[in-house]
Parts: sequence; C-alpha cells; structure tokens
Amino acid sequence: MDDPGTDGRLVDGDEDAVPPPADFRTRAAASDPAVYERFDREGPEAWRAAADLLTWDREYETVLDDSDPPFYEWFPDGRLNAAANCVDRHLDERRNQLAIRWFGKRGERRSYTYLDLHREVNAVAAGLRDLGVEEDDVVTLYLPMIPELPIAMLACARIGAPHNVVFAGLSAEALATRIDAADSEYLITCDGYYRREDAFNQKSKADNARIRAEGELSAAVVVDRLGDELAVSLGDDEHEYDALVDAHDGETVEPVARDATDLLFVMYTSGTTGRPKGVEHATGGYLAHVAWTTRKVLDVRPDDTYWCAADIGWITGHSYGVYGPLATGTTTVLYEGSPDYPDRDRVWDLIERNAVSVFYTSPTAIRSFMKWGAEYPESHDLSSIRLLGTVGESITPKAWRWYREHVGGGDVPVVDTWWQTETGAISLATLPGITPMKPGKVGPPLPGIDARVVDEDGEPVDPGESGYLTLASPWPGMLRGLREGDERYLREYWVEGEDGWRYRTGDGATVDEDGYVTILGRVDDVINVRAQRFNTGELEAAIVDADGVTEAAVVGDGDGHIVAYVTTKSGVEPDEALRDAVADRLASAVGDVARPDRVVFTPELPKTRSGKIMRRLLEDIARGEEFGDVSALRNPEVVGEIESTVREMS
Ligand code: WTA
Repeated sequence: MDDPGTDGRLVDGDEDAVPPPADFRTRAAASDPAVYERFDREGPEAWRAAADLLTWDREYETVLDDSDPPFYEWFPDGRLNAAANCVDRHLDERRNQLAIRWFGKRGERRSYTYLDLHREVNAVAAGLRDLGVEEDDVVTLYLPMIPELPIAMLACARIGAPHNVVFAGLSAEALATRIDAADSEYLITCDGYYRREDAFNQKSKADNARIRAEGELSAAVVVDRLGDELAVSLGDDEHEYDALVDAHDGETVEPVARDATDLLFVMYTSGTTGRPKGVEHATGGYLAHVAWTTRKVLDVRPDDTYWCAADIGWITGHSYGVYGPLATGTTTVLYEGSPDYPDRDRVWDLIERNAVSVFYTSPTAIRSFMKWGAEYPESHDLSSIRLLGTVGESITPKAWRWYREHVGGGDVPVVDTWWQTETGAISLATLPGITPMKPGKVGPPLPGIDARVVDEDGEPVDPGESGYLTLASPWPGMLRGLREGDERYLREYWVEGEDGWRYRTGDGATVDEDGYVTILGRVDDVINVRAQRFNTGELEAAIVDADGVTEAAVVGDGDGHIVAYVTTKSGVEPDEALRDAVADRLASAVGDVARPDRVVFTPELPKTRSGKIMRRLLEDIARGEEFGDVSALRNPEVVGEIESTVREMS
C-alpha cells in the first residue's frame, strides 16, 4: 500500500474497530468525512482552515513556500502574535471566563480569567522589557507547574522573545547546557517548590547552573513559590517576580507582530547523539496546527473545561497545556501536584470538581491508574467527560479499554495521538467524530499528513510488515530547524528519495490494510520513559563517569522506569554504595527524572560480534518478556546470568 493517508478511513469489517459514538458525532468539531478528501485534493492549501482559526496582523497569501526543501516555510508572508491569539482576542467575548484554574500541591487554588491573564501577561512583558529583553532574545524558563510558567511564556511571546522552557526536574548541569546552547541571557525561575512532602530548593540549582554556564546572564526573575518556607537571597541582577508585576501592573505592551516564520520557542530534546537538540518552532505554522488539532482532534470548545495532565516543561504541555487551549479560548486546568497525593483519587477528584470535559494524559499514567484500581475513578462522578486522549507511547488494547470503561463511562471516544517534539502538534490520530478507533493502534494520519511506513530504501512496506515511520510532505507544526544549524537538521531528520524529501521520525511502525498505524517504538538511541525522551548515550556517558564503572546500557522497562545495566572495573565490589553513586550521577547529570529504578550489575554486557550492545535484548529482560535467539551474540552465556539477576531484583 502506498498511501495510508488516503486509505485510512474506511474500516471494512475489522471487528476490533470501535465506531465514533453517535451522540458524539452529531456535535463533533469534525464530523464530515469529506475533510480527508479535501486535504488530498487541495494539498497544502487545505491548511488554510487551520491558519484561519488564528487572528493575523497581516494576512498571509502564500500557504507553503517549498522552494528550498527541506527548509519549508509556512504562511511566510503573514504576521501575527501568539500571545495576542491566546489572550487579547478573547477579551471581547469572554473576558470574565476562566482561562486557567490552578491547583497547587498543598491544596492551594488560583484562578485567572482571560482579563486577569491579559493584565499579568502585560505586566510581565513590560517588566521583561524593562530588564532589557528585546525581540529575538531567548528567555530561559525553569519553573514547575505554577501559573507563572504559562504567563511568562505568553509574556515572552508578546514581546517576540522566544522562550526556552527547561523542565523543572532537570539538573543544574542540564540547565547550564541549555542556557548556553540557546545563547540565552535571561532566566525566570523560582525559590523552590514542593516535592512529595518537602520544600525543595530550585534556586540553588539555578545558581549552580549560572556558575557552570559559560555565558553570563544579564538578569534573572525569581518567583516566590514557597513564601517563608524557603528564604532565598537575591543578587543585584535578580528580581522578584511579584515586585516586577507590581511595578508594571496596569501597563500594556503592544503585542509584537512577528513573521509567521519567526521563532516562537526552542525546546531541547534528546536526539540520536549525546547532545540534546534545540528544536525550533515557528510562530504561525506551529500555532495554526496546534489550534486546529485542539479543535478537531481533542474536540475542545471554548465552553469546555479541559485538562492536559502533561508537564509544561515538555512539548505536550507547550502545545496542549498552553497554546492549544488558550488559542481556542477554553478553560484549562493546571495541576502542580502528583496524581496520588493526598490520595490515589486526586485526578478523579479534580475532574469532578472542575467538571472536566476533555482529559489528555499518557499511557504511563493510565497504567498507574489501572494498578491502583477502578475503585478510585468509580468513587467520583466523571460524567462530565466527553473525550479522552492519550499520548507519549503506545497504549495496549487492555489499557485503552480500561480507560474508556472506568474513566470514560464506557462510551466516549478515546483518541490515541501520535506526534513528537519536532512535529509540534498531533500528526496521527483518529478524528473522533469521523474515524473509527482501533484499540492499540494509533490510527491513520490526520488529513494533510503524508505518513508512510517504509523499508530501508524508502519503499512502502506491506500491511503487517514492520518498517520506519516517515512523513513524506511538510506539515504546518513542523520544526523550522535546529538551534545547532542546518547541517544537523538535515542529518538528524531528512533523506532525499526519488519522490522528494522524507522526514524520518525515528519510530518503527506497522500499518494495517485500513492504513492504521501501530507504533513499535524507537529505532534509534532514544528511549521513552514516563512519556519523556532520553538519549541512551547521554545517560550511559553519565553513568560511566561514576568511579569504578566501565560500561553501561540503559533501557526502559515499559512501565515508566529506567533500568541501568552496569559493569565494574576489576577489583571494584558492586555494592549498594556503587548503586547509589550510579543513580546520583544520573540525577546530577540529567535530573531526578532520570534516576534509575534498578541498577543491575553484570560482569559483561551482551554484545553482537561487531561489538554493539544488544539493547533490545536488555529491554526484553527488563520488561520480563521472552527474548529471541541469542546465539549470534559474542557472549551469549551472560544473558542467562543477567536474566536471573533481574528476576531476583524484581
Ligand atoms: C513516542 C511527545 C506510540 C514516539 C508528544 C515518538 C508515541 C516520541 C505516541 C516523541 C503514541 C508519542 N503511540 N508512541 N501515541 N506518541 N510517541 O518528542 O516514540 O517527547 O517518537 O513528544 O514518543 O516524544 P516527544
């Protein structure tokens, strides 16, 4: 089959297929199947439908400039401001509607109407200007899930300063690398935040990063999250967030009209080599694609209360926690805490309390919910839910059904969405009012997305055969490039074939007769753990840095944990202390998120005859799964030994 995009909507007699619920279909944002044909017929021009969801300062005429592939430009002659699209344009119709409902870790609550949001975004934008931030200066944000994070993002967007959000759980070392790599002279962080029961000092990590960074910061802004619980001292170039807001309260800053191709933000993510890549997103194409998919795939409406549970420190939180919902003018829930505190029903309690109608989370979270038991969701009224979404890794049919049954009341659409930091927005998914769902399969590509599963030579594979997932034409949300330059952008992602340029996603996949794609996992050196991406080389290099270690291999166990296999120098006793040292190295190099769940000592790592570590095999062992023939290994005898060590540990 050569084009899953056109064949993907007709599901003939597939008994596992679940049709869109009839009552959902009648009110769905996308309900006319002709949308697929329209995109096929019109090509890139059809994406006008997405761009027309936005308010432009200067209307675009050209949809796509593809004169210099694969450096594509979307809506290149249009101008717009992302913050004005997420805030200002809603003021006429819904200034007193809630934009953000925030729930803090200690039970605190804060709500912002669109008018409140407008006021604070303007004050922060004015404050940043006052500190010297100019258009195109990159501002690094190192904040947990507090309202100041989306507000700071929008303030940056307002003045045309690209943001560079670094996940709050990453280490000082990781922050320093990202500040330097982005050439960022401004930082917004906080005194600290609550982790589990304890106040945790974020400022000292930020201070540490400033010492490590090669470049000098011009100024920093510090949010007071913990009040008296953590007193931090501020240097001359450090400003308290609240004081900055007070000083500029009531000021308005004219939103800067940006070229659609101008940088909205940079987001670092793990790639196929050790150093993280700075993925650059352009203002117009990104926002158009995100707004369109928020409407048509997640079916979010302005009168919804919507909750994307992902952390804003990653792309899902950027696209579907901030830009998508606010561009749509809906009310979005922001939650700082963990799903099991104070109890395992916290998520369901928040859904009930806020009458959340659309909920978007990851399979990792769903697996935890399943483990905790159906009694938690069942003890709450979840009848407000109209649609459920999932993203980040494959969801098993069993988890899909559990989610639909126990959270969705058995009858709502469950939309599995595939995309990446680089794609910017959802790329493969069913359209919930049109396309049947198949539990465990992502679904066909969205209209306008030219996804193909191909072999090594770029030839489409037969249904059921595994191949590489590639995107054969550009799409509006695509990265406009990498911070590291054109050469790395080309090398990381693009191949030129006979019929043009293909974007390589790095994922292995199969496709069925109906064009539904099943994701098999990464085919490169990236692992997905807890819906976050890590580069194995980066993690392994950090472990090998620990004294006494010679070699390391890291894998995900399929349950949200990292497992590290480690060999030690001769004479070094692999004991608990070394185990802690390995875990600490990962935490300080990357962050606590990368702390391994298990460190498995082994005399040798299984290798092919050419010396390549057999990570797939180690992953099977970590997952407790059957593994295939090991006779082609150079050292097959270690496999049994490793397996029994792992079995004893679990
Ligand atoms: C994986 C997250 C299976 C995939 C938005 C991809 C998925 C990587 C799915 C991107 C899904 C994402 N089913 N796998 N529905 N969604 N992935 O950049 O391997 O953090 O390449 O973006 O997550 O991760 P990233």
